[in-house]
Amino acid sequence: MPSPEPTKNAFDLALYLAVRRDRIDQALEKMLNTGERSGTELAEAMLYSVKAGGKRLRPILCMAAAQAAGGLEEEALPAGCAIEMIHTYSLIHDDLPAMDDDDLRRGQPTCHKAFGEATAILAGDALLTAAFQVLSAHALQQPPRQQRQWLEVIAMIARAAGPDGMIEGQMQDIRAEGRALVPDQLERLHRLKTGALISASIETGALIGKAEESTALRLSEYGRCIGLAFQVVDDILNEEGDPGIMGKAAGTDRLHLKNTYPVMLGLDAAKRKAADLVDQALRSLDIFDSKSDPLRAIARYVIERQR
Ligand code: IPE
Ligand code: IPE
Ligand code: MG
Ligand code: MG
Repeated sequence: MPSPEPTKNAFDLALYLAVRRDRIDQALEKMLNTGERSGTELAEAMLYSVKAGGKRLRPILCMAAAQAAGGLEEEALPAGCAIEMIHTYSLIHDDLPAMDDDDLRRGQPTCHKAFGEATAILAGDALLTAAFQVLSAHALQQPPRQQRQWLEVIAMIARAAGPDGMIEGQMQDIRAEGRALVPDQLERLHRLKTGALISASIETGALIGKAEESTALRLSEYGRCIGLAFQVVDDILNEEGDPGIMGKAAGTDRLHLKNTYPVMLGLDAAKRKAADLVDQALRSLDIFDSKSDPLRAIARYVIERQR
């Protein structure tokens, strides 16, 4: 008997991700490997970390949110790339000896292992600044009405990346080493260090896609849920993931007496927590049409992923 035909409109997440990843990689290369900067030691270090190949989840979320809002995903590409630059800088600094002291990232020696600490610090600084250079240059190219919208995008990203978001989260993460937090404190830490930038990816995408208010609120709820779920899963993978697949070390959170969900709740409850958050994320999309299928599939991927 012939095997049944696959459902015509089954969503192929692997293909969806691969196509966007390619597009984002090309855009990042073009934005970063430019003009007089090309070939300098600093540009080499920036590109070394960017091109090591992350999942590009944040830019993909930004584009998928623009699409779900009824806009064009392509229009969100510059914002997505800027967020990926900020994310990559945060990883370079996160891995430094003064922070998590890691030797492996994205399947290759960390930036400071390859280029030395001073260059890694500067490559991180350069990626953060380049992100806002790209964003502001893009904003300036827009017609006046659109400029206001891009200014809001810039404000959202700055807020999520800085002392009201990721950096405060990193500060709390470092300060909490060896000191047990209570659940509310851990949730706040995770929402800041990882959730804020993931939320901003979706909220800026929604803005660029010109989401109506009710749509934007639901997308924002989706972002809050998967932003936290993403870090809960990062904690779980640090306990039981395969370093060969993840491209980074495992077991290091316990070694550094980090506060994580598996440490606080145990592995099973941490997994239930992540699954509940993803269910909640999916419920926030329940009135949306097939334009939000990518966001639905990405939410499931957040808990199924192995890297
Ligand atoms: C890792 O992020 C660090 C966290 C904020 C949890 P990702 O898992 O998205 O890392 P890449 O970009 O794929 O390398
Ligand atoms: C990384 O958190 C958060 C940021 C870089 C802002 P972790 O330190 O838990 O992530 P990994 O496990 O090193 O990727
Ligand atoms: Mg860290
Ligand atoms: Mg780390």
